[in-house]
Amino acid sequence: MRTKSSGSPITFIKHVRVENLAVVYPRNIRVLDSINLEFKPGIYVLIGPNGAGKTTLLDVLAGIRVPSQGRVLLNETISLYSLDERVRAGIRREAIAYMLQEDIFIDYLNVLDNILLFRKFINISDETVNRLMEKLNIYNLKNKLPSELSGGEKKKVNFIRTYIKALSSSLILFDEPTSNLDWESTNIVRELIKELNNGKRIIIIATHDTKLLELSEAIIELRAGKLVKRTVNE
Ligand SMILES: Nc1ncnc2c1ncn2[C@@H]1O[C@H](COP(=O)(O)OP(=O)(O)OP(=O)(O)O)[C@@H](O)[C@H]1O
Ligand SMILES: [Mg+2]
Repeated sequence: MRTKSSGSPITFIKHVRVENLAVVYPRNIRVLDSINLEFKPGIYVLIGPNGAGKTTLLDVLAGIRVPSQGRVLLNETISLYSLDERVRAGIRREAIAYMLQEDIFIDYLNVLDNILLFRKFINISDETVNRLMEKLNIYNLKNKLPSELSGGEKKKVNFIRTYIKALSSSLILFDEPTSNLDWESTNIVRELIKELNNGKRIIIIATHDTKLLELSEAIIELRAGKLVKRTVNE
C-alpha cells in the first residue's frame, strides 16, 4: 500500500496497544483515565456521550496529543510518544489517516484542490477521485470554495480526502464521519469504510450514529474518560 519510503521507523501499523493512558488538561481536568486497549486489524467503534473523551483518544492514537501518563505501543516495539515530534510526523505521514471531527480546509482552495492535496500520499487516478465525488454527490461542487458549502457537503469533502489518504494507510481514524449527512450519504460512507477493511488495516470510528455500529467487530464505550464497556459483535 505504501507509495514511497521515508525515514519513518514504522511504515505499516499492524498492532496498537494503549497502556494505562491518561490525559489531563490544564487546570487538572482529567479527560482520559486508566485506559487500556488493544487494536488489531478490523473495525472498532468508539461510543460515549459528548465530552466522554473520544476525540481526545483519537488525537492520542494519531500521534498529535501527548498523553499525561501511559503509552501507545505500535507493533509491540515502538512507543509513539518516546519518539520526537519529527519522527512522529513521519509515522503520521506514512501510516495514519485521521478524519478530524471539525472540517478544516484551506479556505482559498476550491473543493477539488482541497481533496487533491491529499492525493500526494498515494497514486490515485483523477477518475477514482471523480468517482468518489460523484458517489457522494459533490462532483458538481468541485469548483466551489469551502465557505460556499453546506455542513453536510463539507463533511463529504472531509471524508473523501481522508479516504484517499486511508488507501495508503494502516491506522485509520474517523471522528464522526457521518454527522450532518443524510440517510443515503451515510449508507455510502458506511459502505466505503467497509471496503477499507481488508484484514490489514486498523480502523477506529468515533460516532453517535447507530448505523455505523453494525460495521464493528468491537464496540468501545467511554464515559467521563473511563472505559466502561467493550463488546465484541458476533
Ligand atoms: N484543550 C482542552 N482543554 C481543556 N479541556 C478540554 C480540551 N479539549 C477538550 N476538553 C474537554 O475534554 C473532554 C473530552 O473532550 P472530547 O472532545 O475528547 O470529547 P468527545 O467524546 O469527543 O465529545 P463529542 O461527542 O462532543 O465529540 C470534554 O469535557 C472537553 O470539554
Ligand atoms: Mg469528539
